[in-house]
Amino acid sequence: MLRKSKRLDKIPPYLFVKIEEKKAELIKKGVDIIDFGIGDPDLPTPAAIFKKMHEVLEKVESANYPTSKGELSFRKAVADWYEKRFNVALDPATEVCALIGSKEGLAHLFLAFVDAGDVVLVPDPAYPVYKIGTLLAGGEPYILPLTKENNFIPDLDKIPADVAQKAKLMFINYPSNPTGAVADRSFFEKCVAFCKKYNILLVSDLAYSEMAYDGFKPTSVLEIPGAKDIAIEFHSLSKTYNMTGWRIGMAVGNSEAVQALATIKSNVDSGAFKAIQSAAAEALSGPQDSVRENNKIFEERRNVLIDGLNSLGWKLERPKATFYMWVPIPKGETSASFAEKLLEKCGILVVPGNGYGTYGEGYVRFTITLPKERIITAIERMKKAGLAY
Ligand SMILES: Cc1ncc(COP(=O)(O)O)c(C=O)c1O
Repeated sequence: MLRKSKRLDKIPPYLFVKIEEKKAELIKKGVDIIDFGIGDPDLPTPAAIFKKMHEVLEKVESANYPTSKGELSFRKAVADWYEKRFNVALDPATEVCALIGSKEGLAHLFLAFVDAGDVVLVPDPAYPVYKIGTLLAGGEPYILPLTKENNFIPDLDKIPADVAQKAKLMFINYPSNPTGAVADRSFFEKCVAFCKKYNILLVSDLAYSEMAYDGFKPTSVLEIPGAKDIAIEFHSLSKTYNMTGWRIGMAVGNSEAVQALATIKSNVDSGAFKAIQSAAAEALSGPQDSVRENNKIFEERRNVLIDGLNSLGWKLERPKATFYMWVPIPKGETSASFAEKLLEKCGILVVPGNGYGTYGEGYVRFTITLPKERIITAIERMKKAGLAY
């Protein structure tokens, strides 16, 4: 037996590893799985991005080490995009850092800010990295419950002052994975005021800002005056341009925070592949038609799923953003038992909500990364199996 770190014991198996195992087992048995699982777009990366990648791929310098905070051309493209999209000015030299996907940056941020015993304000349910990253750094997550009653938005007034005084970081993620909830500008204003009062670094995860419907335009925390004093924002090209496997994202905002993250990165990785940074710069600066086209497709799928579930007794509203549908489970079920029933009776794979935290119990998450026809089939299978709300 090798002697592993105690740190490792704090990590539950990564949610999707277990689900993928179960899926593989059923496929082996010949089951036709309708997969609403992981949030990985099924649509292609836009052609212009591939074209740029092909152009730069064989250049000698593409094969060299990148700088760990990213090529200046990429950081400039990020700053220009923020200006255009959010009317936020960023200094590419000090306020932007390229990431090997935003997960990498989020996970490394803890090394720059959290010491043993430090408190981190973590929403629940949420993207697992916020809590696990805290634990890996020896910090203590203080859970901010997200429930239907609070519209899946944390009530900052409920955070005791002594906890807030000890907190180093606070995470927010709107539009949200897994709840699909959105927040308006006034919530971002409250967060900025709260974090200023207690000298907390506000960490906004904006991975889904471009995946929005019905005319809704998500806010960047950096739009709030004074936010740059205490906020860092993480962004990703993964979902906006169907580039999950390319591994490219960015951290922007408070220069001290961005530089602290870059210092950690310069000691653990050597940055994202330069050719990918060029292709990503092209994505951000080129026409955004593909984003609008994707959203049209997701919007239609959303309508089909929500209307379909509502025809089976649910009373769901159509989420204004993300490709996640956060669905309450029928009475008498748990998240796990209902997910298992869907899988075994209907071949439908969803993610049990408790995988995203204690307050995720009572829900399952459907991701609409599959064609409309498959969603229709899923609803038909549920109807046939008598699975209703
Ligand atoms: C809320 C949220 N943040 C960050 C990420 C990480 O994205 P990436 O590392 O691909 O940029 C994801 C991926 O699903 C996510 O849902």
